[in-house]
Amino acid sequence: MIFDEIELLLNNAGAKAGYNEKFSVTFSNLPKVCDFQCNDCFAIAKKLGKNPYELAEEVTNAVEENEDFLFEAVRPAFINIKLTDKKLAKIGQEFLKDERGGVPKHSQPQKVIMDYGGANVAKALHIGHLRSPIIGESLKRLYRFLGDEVIADVHLGDWGLQMGLTELQLYLDGRLDYYFKGGKEEKITLEMLNNAYPKASARKNVDEDFKREADDWTLKIQSKQEPYFTIYKKIREVSVKEIKKHYSELGAEFDLWYGESDAQDYIDKAIKIIEDKHLSRVSDGALVVDVAVEGENIPLPKTSEDEVQRYKNPMPPAILKKYNGGVLYATTDIATILMRNEMFKEVDRIEYVVDLRQKNHFTQVFRVCKMAGISPDEQQLVYIGFGTMNGKDGKPFKTRSGDTIKLEDIIDMLVEKASEKLKSNGVEYDRNLALTIGVGAMKFGDLINNVDKDYIFDLDKFLTFEGKTGPYLQYTAVRINSILNKTGLASAEDFTINNEEEREIIKSILKLNSSYEICYNNKSLSPLCLATYNLASAFSTFYSNINVVNEKNESKKKSYIALLMLVKNKLEQALNILAINVPQKM
Ligand code: ARG
Repeated sequence: MIFDEIELLLNNAGAKAGYNEKFSVTFSNLPKVCDFQCNDCFAIAKKLGKNPYELAEEVTNAVEENEDFLFEAVRPAFINIKLTDKKLAKIGQEFLKDERGGVPKHSQPQKVIMDYGGANVAKALHIGHLRSPIIGESLKRLYRFLGDEVIADVHLGDWGLQMGLTELQLYLDGRLDYYFKGGKEEKITLEMLNNAYPKASARKNVDEDFKREADDWTLKIQSKQEPYFTIYKKIREVSVKEIKKHYSELGAEFDLWYGESDAQDYIDKAIKIIEDKHLSRVSDGALVVDVAVEGENIPLPKTSEDEVQRYKNPMPPAILKKYNGGVLYATTDIATILMRNEMFKEVDRIEYVVDLRQKNHFTQVFRVCKMAGISPDEQQLVYIGFGTMNGKDGKPFKTRSGDTIKLEDIIDMLVEKASEKLKSNGVEYDRNLALTIGVGAMKFGDLINNVDKDYIFDLDKFLTFEGKTGPYLQYTAVRINSILNKTGLASAEDFTINNEEEREIIKSILKLNSSYEICYNNKSLSPLCLATYNLASAFSTFYSNINVVNEKNESKKKSYIALLMLVKNKLEQALNILAINVPQKM
């Protein structure tokens, strides 16, 4: 890596000048002045009681003769480093030959399970579920690219109250007569589910008896009683088919299509481990585990006798079993961690990409698993909580009538808006193309933000073909492909440095390459989005200033083509991590 090369030269120079201290470099804060800089002379000089500028000069003067870098000591006490054209050309050639484009793999890869997606069976997917497959899929691709072994699990919500509610509602609507009274079987359809769940969910909030009955149905499903369990499996099948379609349109790919229900066989075992360690207690008939740590659940003074006790920093106990023995969301998540650790040995990390509103839930689950030893000490349990997609009014994105938006509607909207855009550019209607561009726009518009921040879901902005948008990057890649189709290819050796525009491109590729590691450490794709945009924009400058196709000088032309090939590779590599497809044309 380039940083290592420069640091080696600097440290050798330091040693030659009589210093054992380590000198490190960063990208330059003033890219117009130099490419890299070393800021360490201040601290080292202070420690040694020396003049910082003199130290910078001494070290710079001791740097061994080389054709790749220019070192210069500048006041107050920086060492500025520039790459020579020779070096820039070597980098271009090397990255073009390397199938990884100069991005190294980790020497100690980890085994990771990623839990993202999280769609709920029998409920329509809605906008609150959208960020999970976007962010999760890209993080997964990033981790794999850097060498980790990653298993992606969709972890469907398929074992909770919504199952009992849906079944009960279907029963009341007379849709399940075949199972209870015999006669002709009526096929369960998606429309029935889309209709049943919202109806039942609204009713449970106002009708206590109905809610109890739904609890009862849920328990019958969870204990695999017939015909409840068979009906459940049918509902699951219809619903999962639809969920698969949506995830595939979004480009999210899972290795495991497990759900909460798959952890059922581990629930008793997990509860036994917890009980054996005396971590649980019974509270109002429910089985709970206290998970608060010091500093949490501090009782606040009551203002009157009959006021309920309130707490500062409250962390409620995790509930494992309800009054009726039914299990809850925390129970299935704890059992799932047990299952994952039994199925896949030596998992280094389990990561969850889930809405920030579930922060407490994951704190509870992780604490229980650590206390009970269900997750070994050395295993990292990571919660990546994402913020909300807001409408232009700054409030959670809703339909005009104020309902939450279904994922299906979002996809239709993406296709419609992207089609309009394409039409205005003279491209005829093509649903797949519009979907590729619409989804690309939405993903980039999402991933460029910090994961934990809310952001404004502004499709018109995301869909512009200029600026920091998905379509701009797709368009840049499409354009390069079409130029290369005209010019044919060149080889890596053809690449030389002739002008400032090319220098800028290689430098932005260096930054792009180092952004992968930053993304890995920050668990955010934002640095990669920005660096990819910067490369595309450096390319646009190059392409508007230089006439590649009509270049008369054959060797210059070959060099330009080689550069184009490199930019194409780097763009496609980055877009692939962002799970944004490059269309054939646009
Ligand atoms: N089904 C959940 C929901 O809709 C999300 C699942 C997230 N993953 C997990 N292991 N809890 O809220």
